[in-house]
Amino acid sequence: MAVLRRLWRGTRSQILTRAHRIAVIAGDGIGPEVVAAAIPSIERAAAHDGATLTWEHLPLGAEHYLETGETLPDATFDHLQHHVDAIMLGALGDPRVPDNAHARDILLGLRRRLDLYINFRPIRLLHPRLCALTSAPCAAPQPGADGDGRHIDFVIFRENTEGAYLGRGTARDVGTPHEEQIAEEVHTAPNVTRILTAAFGWARAHGCTRVTMADKANAIPMHRLWQRMFDQVGKDFTDIEHEHRYVDALAMELVRSPERFQVIVTNNLFGDILSDLGAGLVGGLGVAPSANLHPGRPGLFEPVHGSAPTLVGTGTANPMAAILTGALMLEQLGLPTAPKLLDDAVEQAVAAGVTTPDIGGTASTAAVAEWIKGHLPG
Ligand code: NAD
Ligand code: IPM
Ligand code: MN
Repeated sequence: MAVLRRLWRGTRSQILTRAHRIAVIAGDGIGPEVVAAAIPSIERAAAHDGATLTWEHLPLGAEHYLETGETLPDATFDHLQHHVDAIMLGALGDPRVPDNAHARDILLGLRRRLDLYINFRPIRLLHPRLCALTSAPCAAPQPGADGDGRHIDFVIFRENTEGAYLGRGTARDVGTPHEEQIAEEVHTAPNVTRILTAAFGWARAHGCTRVTMADKANAIPMHRLWQRMFDQVGKDFTDIEHEHRYVDALAMELVRSPERFQVIVTNNLFGDILSDLGAGLVGGLGVAPSANLHPGRPGLFEPVHGSAPTLVGTGTANPMAAILTGALMLEQLGLPTAPKLLDDAVEQAVAAGVTTPDIGGTASTAAVAEWIKGHLPG
C-alpha cells in the first residue's frame, strides 16, 4: 500500500479553491513526452476530488534558448512567482547546449529565486521485483515488509538554495597548463537550520523515529556547520533519534541496508547524488518523483530524472516518475484523495507488469500512462 505523504500545504486560498493553475515547463528531451503522458492521469485523479486543473504551457527549454537566447525572462519569472498555483517541469538538458546554461537559469534559477528550499525526494520500493539488491536484507524486516522482506521507504531532504550550486568561483590561467578553477560552496546557518527543521518536522508529523544527516566534515571542515546546527535543531526534537553519517559511509550503508533509513537530510550536492542512488535501489530514475517546496508557497514539481536524450522518440520513457510527481503536486495543492489514487494506480501497473523496458516491461510510454489512467476511479 502506498503511504500518503502529507506535504506542506499551499496557501489557504489554494486549498479552498478547486481550480488550480499549473504552469508546465515540459522542457527538453523526454520531458515533453512524460509530461504529456502524465497529465491525463493527474487530471482524472484531481477530478475525483472535484478539482479542475488549468495547464499553461510555457515554451522554455533548449529550443527556445537556441532560437531566442532567452532562458527565463523576468516577465515569465514574475508570472510564475505571482500567478500560478504550481509549476510542473519535465526535464531540461540538451546536447546542443553543452554548458547547460539554460537549465541552470531555469531549473536552478527557479529553485533559488522562488526560495524553494526543500527538495523533497521520496524513495519507495513499489514492488519487490524492482529492487536492485539481490542479497537478503541486512536489517530486520520492518512491519509491512514486502514478500522478500524488503521495505525500502525513506525520503531525502535536499537543501535546494545554496551549497555547491550557486556557481560561484574563480578561474585563472584558463587554457594554459596552469589553469586553475576554484568552485565555492556556501553553507549559511539560517538555510541549514531551515532544511534541518523541515526534515525533523516532517519526520515528527509522519511518525518517523530517526533522521540521518550526511556531510563530509572530515574532509571539508566547513561542513561542521551542519553538525552544529543538527545538534541545535535536534534539541527541539528529542522524540526523534538524530544520527550523523559521513556521506561516503552513508552511500555504502544505503546499498547494504536501505530499510533502516527513514529521513535523510543533506546539502544540495550530496542530496542530488544520494537521490539517484536511492532511485537506483527501487527501480531507477523512471520511478523517482520530486517536489521543490517552500511551505505555504506554490511549488515546483519535477521527476528526478533528466532529459534522457537517447530515449527521445522511442516511446520507451517511463511516465511513472512524472505521474508520481503529479501526486506530490496534488498533495501540496491540498487534494485529499487524488495523490493516493495516483500512487496506487502506479503501484498496480508495476504489479501487473504494465511497464516500460527500464523496469522490465515491454509497454510504451503512452500504453503505461493509458493503463494507469484507466485504473483510476472515474
Ligand atoms: P538522465 O536522468 O537523463 O538519464 C540517466 C539514465 O536514466 C539514462 O540511462 C536514461 O535513459 C535513464 N532514464 C532517465 N529517465 C528515464 C525515464 N523516464 N524512463 C526510462 N529511463 C530513464 O540523466 P543524464 O543522462 O545524466 O542527463 C541527461 C540530461 O538531462 C543532461 O543534460 C542533464 O543535465 C539533464 N538532467 C536534467 C534534470 C532535470 O531537468 N531535472 C535532471 C537530471 C539530468
Ligand atoms: C536534478 C538534476 C539537476 C541538479 C541538474 C540538471 C542541474 O540533476 O534535479 O537532480 O543537479 O539539481
Ligand atoms: Mn540529479
